[in-house]
Amino acid sequence: MAKQDHVLVGVDIGTSKIACVVAEVGPGGKLDVIGIGKHPSRGLRKGVVVNIESTVESIRLAVEEAELMAGVDIRSVFVGIAGSHIRGYNSNGVVATKNGEVTLDDVTRSIDAASAMAIPADQKILHILPQEYIIDDQDGIREPVGMSGIRLEARIHMITGAVSSAQNLIKCCNRCELDVADMVLEQVASSEAVLSQDEKDIGVVLIDIGGGTTDLAIFIDGAIRHTAVIPIGGDHLTNDLVVGLRTSAREADQLKIKYGACMVEMTDPDDIIDVPSVGGRPPRPMPRQIMAQILEPRVQELLELVKVEIQRSGYQELVAAGLVLTGGSSLLEGMVDLAEETFDGLPVRMGKPQGVGGLVDVVSSPMYATGVGLLMYGNRYRQRASSGSVEPARHNMGRSASGNGLWQRMRRWFGDAH
Ligand SMILES: Nc1ncnc2c1ncn2[C@@H]1O[C@H](COP(=O)(O)OP(=O)(O)OP(=O)(O)O)[C@@H](O)[C@H]1O
Ligand SMILES: [Mg+2]
Repeated sequence: MAKQDHVLVGVDIGTSKIACVVAEVGPGGKLDVIGIGKHPSRGLRKGVVVNIESTVESIRLAVEEAELMAGVDIRSVFVGIAGSHIRGYNSNGVVATKNGEVTLDDVTRSIDAASAMAIPADQKILHILPQEYIIDDQDGIREPVGMSGIRLEARIHMITGAVSSAQNLIKCCNRCELDVADMVLEQVASSEAVLSQDEKDIGVVLIDIGGGTTDLAIFIDGAIRHTAVIPIGGDHLTNDLVVGLRTSAREADQLKIKYGACMVEMTDPDDIIDVPSVGGRPPRPMPRQIMAQILEPRVQELLELVKVEIQRSGYQELVAAGLVLTGGSSLLEGMVDLAEETFDGLPVRMGKPQGVGGLVDVVSSPMYATGVGLLMYGNRYRQRASSGSVEPARHNMGRSASGNGLWQRMRRWFGDAH
């Protein structure tokens, strides 16, 4: 049986499903997935908890299933956070180095200076992600400590989220007797699992198309430059089918998963499917192409919104590695092709979680990108903490950025610490 302190757990609290992934940390930080629990999510809308009781129940069931499979008692988890309350900002801060050579303390001060910006009272910082450092006139520095120079500038991407949404997530986990080790923006987690370092260096857009939302993250030169959430996902496609095919939401979702496509030209007009009716009426035969006719304009609309968001970010010319689509809805037939068409020839691929061992067959679906990514994020954080790395804030707003860790942050959210 895996020892408790060698186990990491990620809980992806999504709009469609709660996925709990347990991994054992092996020698050299290698992750082996040893347990998975999945349960339909009932208490979220567009990535945000709207019903605590139902969410708690779904988390409990998913966690119990994963515990049974892994044979461990789960106590501490990394949790994903999402929703349209999330904001991303780029900022910079400048300090003078103390001795003409950059120390860890100078780096911390420069990040503090960069993150000292006014954010709305109902928002709190989730991540401070350093992008690069500039020493005197030399830009593009990733590891500044030990370099000579007088002036140190930090460029960061700061992500904030609504205090109430974060509190509700923590509350739900605590009600299941789970401690939250850290809260991670879902697309930051997904990017850990599906993007290669090369893609991040060259410039890439990660698009996690889930049930309730589509989450975006743009990486250039190895660092996050832009994050955004579009409140449209697979549920909207299902709803369109409910109306268009006159069937129940459950049946429409099944039909979408089984026969759905988002390019009419890919479907055969002679392909006939049975569509279950509501109210005890018999199923009706219908050409499968009708589904594509319903889904294509909605997916096109979503991809156009993604395109506008990328243009708004100002990085559209720099994402040479193209788009990586992940999340359950990226599995829709024709999604990658329609994205290639919409983005005029930019390379597009589907992103499945990679870089873990163990039960890979189950978790290698894009639906598990966030769950697996949370583990990888947690692992990176653990390794950095134990090696005393000089750059603890690279992927985590953690201690160096604001002089306190998650626990203090969380207590601050609940108003009992300053
Ligand atoms: N093979 C498939 N084809 C089309 N759609 C699919 C397929 N498999 C799953 N989906 C859709 O993917 C969505 C769920 O994706 P995912 O599990 O990534 O969402 P989530 O993480 O729960 O939601 P969110 O991230 O928006 O909070 C559902 O709308 C589901 O219908
Ligand atoms: Mg998701």
